[in-house]
Amino acid sequence: MAEFMHVRASVASVEQRTAAIEAAFDARGLKTEGALEQLEHAADEVWVPRNGARVVARAWTDAAYKRRLLANGRDAVLELGLTMPKHHRHLVVLEDTPAVHNVICCTLCSCTAFTIIGLPPDWYKDLEYRSRIVRQSRTVLREMGLDLPPEVEIRVWDTTADTRYMVLPLRPAHTEGWSEAQLADIVTKESMIGVARL
Ligand SMILES: [Fe+2]
Repeated sequence: MAEFMHVRASVASVEQRTAAIEAAFDARGLKTEGALEQLEHAADEVWVPRNGARVVARAWTDAAYKRRLLANGRDAVLELGLTMPKHHRHLVVLEDTPAVHNVICCTLCSCTAFTIIGLPPDWYKDLEYRSRIVRQSRTVLREMGLDLPPEVEIRVWDTTADTRYMVLPLRPAHTEGWSEAQLADIVTKESMIGVARL
């Protein structure tokens, strides 16, 4: 026990570890200055669910775009001026229908198409969600506030390093005649993960 306590006490704090990493970068002449700020800026301003919302709104209003999106998601989002990291080699867009509801997860960790739908919420990274959504999808969705009728089939898609997913949610019936911008305003990150309907 004493030995265990000793080991625990010797673990460096987050600040100490960050400082050690910065020192290692500095020693190799690599600049860390500003990198963190850039990352924070990207997370807050660039990798936002508004990107995916624009994609969804376009697909709802432009049948030819939707066909391209479903055939090759990556090319279709680039068409709208959005970006994806090189290692996100495929973006698979999963179209909901009245009979089929799609939901995504990453059972290994926390992968998402984050440049398109935004960074994963904390619950998405939680072992509870990752382990239960596959086997108890209907129950987990109900617990998260989405109570699907029993006749709706639920399909769960497990993200990998190079294949990312987004859900193309059903367009709500009351939005007929809305502009693309109005439509984009109602599309949420949760609906593109598949834990909510619109
Ligand atoms: Fe992951």
